[in-house]
Amino acid sequence: MTNADDLAGVLRPPGGLLEGKVAVITGAGAGIGQVCAAVFAGEGAKVLAADLSGGQDDTAAALGPSVSPFRVDVRREEDVEAMFARAIEVFGRVDALVHVAGIPGSRRSAEITTEEYEDLTSVHLRGTVLCDKHAVRAMVPTGGGAIVNFSSAASLNVDERISMAYSAAKAGVNALTKAIAVQYGPQGIRANAVAPGFTLSKKNFAAPPEIMRELAGKAALGRAGQPQEQANVAAFLASDLASFVTGVIVPVDGGWSAKLA
Ligand SMILES: NC(=O)c1ccc[n+]([C@@H]2O[C@H](COP(=O)([O-])OP(=O)(O)OC[C@H]3O[C@@H](n4cnc5c(N)ncnc54)[C@H](O)[C@@H]3O)[C@@H](O)[C@H]2O)c1
Repeated sequence: MTNADDLAGVLRPPGGLLEGKVAVITGAGAGIGQVCAAVFAGEGAKVLAADLSGGQDDTAAALGPSVSPFRVDVRREEDVEAMFARAIEVFGRVDALVHVAGIPGSRRSAEITTEEYEDLTSVHLRGTVLCDKHAVRAMVPTGGGAIVNFSSAASLNVDERISMAYSAAKAGVNALTKAIAVQYGPQGIRANAVAPGFTLSKKNFAAPPEIMRELAGKAALGRAGQPQEQANVAAFLASDLASFVTGVIVPVDGGWSAKLA
């Protein structure tokens, strides 16, 4: 017969999924990152909402005292170092990094300029190297934490509309994620990536309706994703519910990447 005590430890204590945790969220001034800040705060986390745009101030003002804004350019190491120092100053520790900041893909492969290539790699690759590096440094002294990088379904396979430099930069994000997982797992750090498919962050509403319909139709579910559907998976990966999940890239794409083409 099952002993009630055997199961008692399995029951989740009352409160949010991220109760008592401190999360640094980049890209929190708009789109998926802003919704991550809302979901994390709603699940009980304290959040440093970081962005370059100024939108981080609106995010913090809308979400209340558990969210503090910070201006960061993820391409600049001094900014990134200061971001983690600020989180520790305000909230005492860092349990999670959700690195969402990014810029859209450029034109098709044969039209790409060197400037577009430099922009894409510096925001996505250098930004992830710097954010993950300083997240590890902030987390190791307190016994570890969870890193969730934002990649893309475009890192897994390629589509007519996706630029090669964007795909390559996001594939690099996957490799960085696995490197952190393998190298810092023994110090209690988990690292995973969310790979979104076409998701209706506000900037995507600027696309012509026929392109929006085409991209939405690529998912097996036949629709675009909502930012909250990305944020929910990030919250799970950052939480203790995912305590044995590390080094994985999770497509959150309605089945787009499962298709042959
Ligand atoms: N929306 C999608 O369909 C989709 C699909 C696949 C992957 N993604 C990825 O998800 C992430 C979020 O996408 P989104 O649609 O919410 O984008 P978004 O443009 O709505 O938001 C991105 C945020 O990142 C910030 N940012 C850009 N460069 C920065 C820098 N150097 N330093 C600090 N902040 C910076 C911007 O100011 C903005 O607030 C990105 O990494 C993107 O590549 C999005």
